[in-house]
Amino acid sequence: MFKLFYRTSIELGDVTPHNIKQLRKLNTVVFPVSYNDKFYVDVLDAGELAKLAYYNDIVVGAVCCRIDTSDNQRRLYIMTLGCLSPYRRLGIGTVMFQHILNYVENDGNFDSIFLHVQVNNDGAIEFYKKFGFEIVETKKHYYKRIEPADAHVLQKTLRKTSLNSSNHVHSNGHLEKKDKKA
Ligand SMILES: CC(C)(COP(=O)(O)OP(=O)(O)OC[C@H]1O[C@@H](n2cnc3c(N)ncnc32)[C@H](O)[C@@H]1OP(=O)(O)O)[C@@H](O)C(=O)NCCC(=O)NCCS
Repeated sequence: MFKLFYRTSIELGDVTPHNIKQLRKLNTVVFPVSYNDKFYVDVLDAGELAKLAYYNDIVVGAVCCRIDTSDNQRRLYIMTLGCLSPYRRLGIGTVMFQHILNYVENDGNFDSIFLHVQVNNDGAIEFYKKFGFEIVETKKHYYKRIEPADAHVLQKTLRKTSLNSSNHVHSNGHLEKKDKKA
C-alpha cells in the first residue's frame, strides 16, 4: 500500500485582474466592513503591497497596504490583512506580515507601520503585539455600521535606514546621527 505525504506550502502571489474577484470574496468573508470599487482598482496598482496567500495552492488569505504620507511622515498603512478562519494559527498571517516588514525594511525610509482594529478584536491585537505593535490611540465611532464602533490604532515604529534619511543604522544595530561631529 502506498501512502502519499504532501508537504504543506504557504506562498504569496500577485493580485491581478484574473484573481481580483477571489480577493473581493475573501475580504467579504474575513472582514466586517466592505471595501469599495476604488479600493480594488488601487490594489491592482499596489505591486508588492498587495498579495494573496496560498495554502497548498488554495487562496486563503490576503494583505493590502498603501503608503500614507500625511502629518509629514511616511508610513505604511495596512488596510487589510486577513486569513480564512479554518486556516488561522498556521503561520499564514505571519508570512503576509513578514513580506510587508521586508518591504519596509528594504525601502529603509518608513517611519512606521500602522493599522486600525476593532477594539474587541483580541486575536488580531495579540498577533500584532507579537510583532512589536503598540496601541497608540483609540478612536471613538471610527466604524460606521459595525459594533463596537471604536478602533484602536496599532503602530510599529521603525528606524529609518536609508542613506537619504538623517540617521544611519549600522549593521550592529546602533543608530548614528549623520551630522554627528567627530
Ligand atoms: C489576525 C490574523 C490575520 C492572524 O492570522 P494567522 O494566520 O492566524 O496568524 P499566525 O498563525 O501567523 O499567528 C502568529 C502568532 O500570532 C498570535 N496570534 C494569532 N492569532 C491569535 C489569536 N486569535 N489569539 C492569540 N494570539 C494570536 C500567536 O502568537 C501566533 O503564534 P502561535 O500560533 O504560534 O501561538 C487572523 O486572525 C485574521 O485573519 N483575523 C481576521 C482579520 C483581522 O482581524 N485582521 C486584522 C486587521 S487588518
